[in-house]
Amino acid sequence: MQKIHAILQLDLGTRSYPIYIGQDLLANGDIIRKHLVSSQVLIVTNTTVAPLYLNQIQAALAGLKVHTIILPDGEQHKDITNWHLILDNLLTNRLNRNCTLIALGGGVIGDITGFAAACYQRGVAFIQIPTTLLAQVDASVGGKTAINHALGKNMIGAFHQPKCVIIDTNTLNTLPERELISGVAEVIKYGLIHHRDFFYWLHGNIQKLLAKDPNVLAYVIESSCRSKAKIVSNDEQEAGQRALLNLGHTFGHAIETGTGYGQWLHGEAIAVGICMAANLSHQIGWLSKSELDQITVLMTTAKLPTVPPQGLSATKIKELMAIDKKVLDNKLRLVLLKEIGQAIVTDDFDPIILDRMLHEYTSVNI
Ligand code: NAD
Ligand code: GLY
Repeated sequence: MQKIHAILQLDLGTRSYPIYIGQDLLANGDIIRKHLVSSQVLIVTNTTVAPLYLNQIQAALAGLKVHTIILPDGEQHKDITNWHLILDNLLTNRLNRNCTLIALGGGVIGDITGFAAACYQRGVAFIQIPTTLLAQVDASVGGKTAINHALGKNMIGAFHQPKCVIIDTNTLNTLPERELISGVAEVIKYGLIHHRDFFYWLHGNIQKLLAKDPNVLAYVIESSCRSKAKIVSNDEQEAGQRALLNLGHTFGHAIETGTGYGQWLHGEAIAVGICMAANLSHQIGWLSKSELDQITVLMTTAKLPTVPPQGLSATKIKELMAIDKKVLDNKLRLVLLKEIGQAIVTDDFDPIILDRMLHEYTSVNI
């Protein structure tokens, strides 16, 4: 039965939009229709999500000119080839500037669809319908869209905000456990960067979250979206505080790129990246040892990895980190932790300590 848990608003002036959180929302054609620009629609999804949820959306949009493209599944397909296939579809079907793209799937589908929408005819509307925890708490909100390049993750993209985000928590019923856990890494991130109480609440409720307790899920998704919406409203294009959302990402993206995309899930790589950032923060005298241990314990209890994959050397990680979007004037900037609940972006760390930490982490597994 349809139930709306919360409707949040991401405030960006004329580009503001609602984030609907609830159960059985996919079948609610009224919500989707309210945000369509015209009857021309292209649903973008993938081979895993289509058999699960495409029918519901198509039924909800019956009577409109709905086209569909089903892409291959996986991070390695968030690339220029599949982005091009979306554009081929839009052009072949003669969709005009008033069309709306619907991203139905996880963060990969959301990112590639958003980037196609940003580019088609210099920008058309799109709607995010995220179906993974990671996309519901992070990727679908905030308008970062991108595809990967072999040399760097999310290196080609644009800021392009959706018309709305529709989060149907029932979709998590079919999500494999490993994917749910991957999303938990981004949830923990919000506690660490600016919400200390939420971090400790997660400590007490992590088992319920992993068991998909509906109340816990709804609270976690709402809190995460609230955090993200607030940060993005203040700093849409990452001139300042939005960079805090990248805690662990400089290390994590290096792991994802270094392992060829898809071997490690995004959230798994971010979990390790957060542990590395926390360890560095401790070694430079900020985060206390007990706080560092609490972070590792929470990651481990959530069944997330805390060390990088075997075979990825400190040198390789460093080389890949140099491509990070936060590098300015050849200087690496990292998101580090003063304490749990207080993150900062800084280049104020001794590179020798960074090297030592990278060597310690990479020798753990060799
Ligand atoms: P994903 O999109 O690859 O989805 C994970 C897997 O779950 C896929 O196999 C997918 O087909 C499957 N799936 C999706 N929904 C399902 C469901 N309901 N039931 C069963 N299977 C389902 O990965 P993800 O973790 O959702 O997203 C990771 C991507 O998001 C990365 O590319 C990352 O860079 C990006 N990201 C973007 C932002 C942003 O702000 N734009 C933020 C964080 C992450
Ligand atoms: N996931 C990082 C951001 O949206 O800024």
